[in-house]
Formats: sequence, C-alpha cells, structure tokens
Amino acid sequence: MKCYQFFLLLLSVSVGSALYDPSSYTDRPCGNDISNLWLDVVAVVDNSIGMTTEHLNNIAANIGTLFADTRIGTRPSEPRTTRLGLVTYNSLATTNADLNKFQSLDDVYNGLFSALDRTSNTNTAYLATGLQAAGQLFATQSIGSLRNHYKRVIIVYTSKYQGSGELDPVPMAARFRADGIYIITVAYGDDSKALSDNLQKIATPGFNFTYTSQSLVRDIQGALLQSNCFCPNDWIHYRQSYLDMNSYRYGSCLKPVNLPGSWKQAQLSCHSRHSNSYLVTEFNSNKHDFILTAVKNTFDQPISYHIGLNYINGIWVWDQPTGLPPVPMNGSSWDNWIPGYPKNPHANSGVQNIQTGFGVDWQNIPVYIAMSNYICETYSCDSDNFCDASDVKH
Ligand SMILES: *[C@@H]1O[C@H](CO)[C@@H](O)[C@H](O)[C@H]1NC(C)=O
Ligand SMILES: *[C@@H]1O[C@H](CO)[C@@H](O)[C@H](O)[C@H]1NC(C)=O
Repeated sequence: MKCYQFFLLLLSVSVGSALYDPSSYTDRPCGNDISNLWLDVVAVVDNSIGMTTEHLNNIAANIGTLFADTRIGTRPSEPRTTRLGLVTYNSLATTNADLNKFQSLDDVYNGLFSALDRTSNTNTAYLATGLQAAGQLFATQSIGSLRNHYKRVIIVYTSKYQGSGELDPVPMAARFRADGIYIITVAYGDDSKALSDNLQKIATPGFNFTYTSQSLVRDIQGALLQSNCFCPNDWIHYRQSYLDMNSYRYGSCLKPVNLPGSWKQAQLSCHSRHSNSYLVTEFNSNKHDFILTAVKNTFDQPISYHIGLNYINGIWVWDQPTGLPPVPMNGSSWDNWIPGYPKNPHANSGVQNIQTGFGVDWQNIPVYIAMSNYICETYSCDSDNFCDASDVKH
C-alpha cells in the first residue's frame, strides 16, 4: 500500500449534503455538496525549514482529503469540476502543478506526495512569492478562459510570516481579495499565536485556520463551499446583516427593481429575469429588515415595493421559482401586516410593503392596479446550482 492510500483511508471523511427543501419555511442556504464543487484553486505551500517533513506529509494528506469527493480537473460534459494547482515556496516560488495538470484524484495524490516529500534547505519563506505564482496561474489559465466565471481560491499552508517592502504579502493579498480571489490560510509550526494573527491579515475574513484544529478538513471545505457561493452580477447576496459584509451568507440573491409596476407585472418580470427567480419572500423580520436597509436610500419616499405574498385558493402563499408550488405563509412564525390588514383578500390578493407614519409594513392590494417598485429573488450560484457564464452576466 502506498503511503498516500494509507492517508486516504485514515483521513477520508464523508461529507453529508442535504439538498435544500424549497417548501421549508427557511431561506435557502448556500449549496454544501463538496462533490459538486466548481472552483479554480491553487494550494501555496511553504517548504522552508520551518516546516518538517511530517508537516509536509500532513499537508499533502490534508489537500488530498479536501478533494477526495470532488471532481478534479475538467470534464467534457460536466462543468462542476475543480481545478487544483500547486505552488511551493521558500525564498522563491516553484509552480509544481499548473491548473491543468491534475485531472484526477490519483494525479493529485501522486503530485502532492512527490512535491511535498521533503523540506527545502532554506530558512526563508516569502509568502509574497508564493502568492505571486498563484496569481500568475490565475492570470494565464483562469481569467479570460472558459472558466472565467468560476471563483478563485488560494489555500496557504505556512509556518512563517516574512517579508517587507516589495515582499510584503499584505498589500498583494489585499489586491487579490479585491479582485474576488478568496484566501484560506492554515498556520503550521510552534509559534502559532503570532503567526495566526499575521495570517489573519492575509486571509478572507473567517478563513484563517490552524493545523491543530480538530476540524481542519471540514473548516476548509466550508470555506471552499462559501467561496463557491455567489450571486449573478448586479444581484445583492442576502446575508445576516446588510451592513456587515462578512456576516453569514444565504444561498439567495436579491434584486431591487426601481421601476413601478403592478403586482402581477412585478411577478412576471421577476420570473423572467433569471433561472429560479421569483418575487421575494419575507419569511422573517431579518429578511424584511435587510431588504428595507438595501432600498431605503435608493427608492423614492414614501417607499413602496411588492413582495411575493399573494392570496390563492383561500390562503396566503409565497411566490416560488417557476415550476415549484407556492409556500403557504406561516403567520404564527412571523407576519408584518399593517394593523387592520389584510382587507378583503379576494379583491386585494397581492401584497406590498408600504411606508406609513410607523414604518414599512405589509398591505394587501389589487394585483393589476397599484404601481410600486419590487424586489426579485433568485438562488445563488453554488455547488447545488451551477451557473453558466451567461447566467452570471445577467
Ligand atoms: C482568525 O484570526 C483571529 C485573530 O487572530 C482569531 O481570533 C481567530 O480565532 C482566528 N480563527 C481561527 C479559526 O483560528
Ligand atoms: C409555523 O411557525 C411556528 C412557529 O415558528 C411553528 O411552531 C409551526 O410548526 C409552523 N407551522 C408550519 C405549518 O410550518
């Protein structure tokens, strides 16, 4: 048995993935199916003396385990694949595998265990050189390619934090993050506190880990799945807090439309905007508050906008993507009716939020008459919902 097979047995974890149930009264979470991950990833590994051979073996096993259930490379008929490149660095960086080299998990294990079989004999490790080599792979093989709309991730494994001036990794990492590249860091070695504090300046917020974590594989897979979860251009990613960009993100994207129409026009317009798009749900006050914060500076006052609540066959239901049944409203969970509403639901079977002296709350209205702005919603692009390039440009 080769040593990588042993590690595979030892470390392989099965990642359960429960598909979202659209009839549940919850906002869709980001897809969490690691077997359908679609990303371009470069692992950037410090192989200076600060690492030990044992650490490097451990890293090879960690990377292999991360992708044990993922399609590696490219496939003619399956777009949901992940390409993995490998860069090692010390005072200089070496590209061990470009993004097209590994076409299977076997390739990954063979490549990793041969590239990470021993440390180099230098004590220097300039992370900036490793980052730069990863950036080079993206620039030449990812950006502008058929996978241009795939998200890009760098996973840094390092025992050291060195470099100033031109070799300062902080501004380079900041530039990468601003370009939409996610950075995951894993701190190795003894001096963990100072090192992990420094790596926090490199990593995407929440994506800084240490090798001693009991849940390292799950932590990194979680970060990869989060990186794979994004919205089409010009849609707002629904998250826990509008003001905190780093708050928990749902698998749902919102588009406020600043163009008054009737409730029915709004519903039709939302359905035709994108795959899986519909007039927005407000299952809870958090979503309501998020949307209100998003529109209150752009919509004219008094603010009014249609939402997906409507009266069908004697009950209030929430709009859903074309082809899915509407979801019955659960009034004991939360509702937001203006006192005295709903009024005469047969004649007033649509719902809008409208600004009164007290706030912005639900009012039922005729679906062909009242003209208001509206909010569309769609599923995020993620492991459960592949988006092709034309989806993303919308
Ligand atoms: C990320 O870095 C911050 C600051 O050093 C630290 O408080 C946090 O615990 C780190 N996260 C992990 C998972 O280690
Ligand atoms: C409605 O919400 C309440 C409170 O959250 C919950 O206990 C109940 O099970 C929900 N009803 C349905 C039909 O989902």
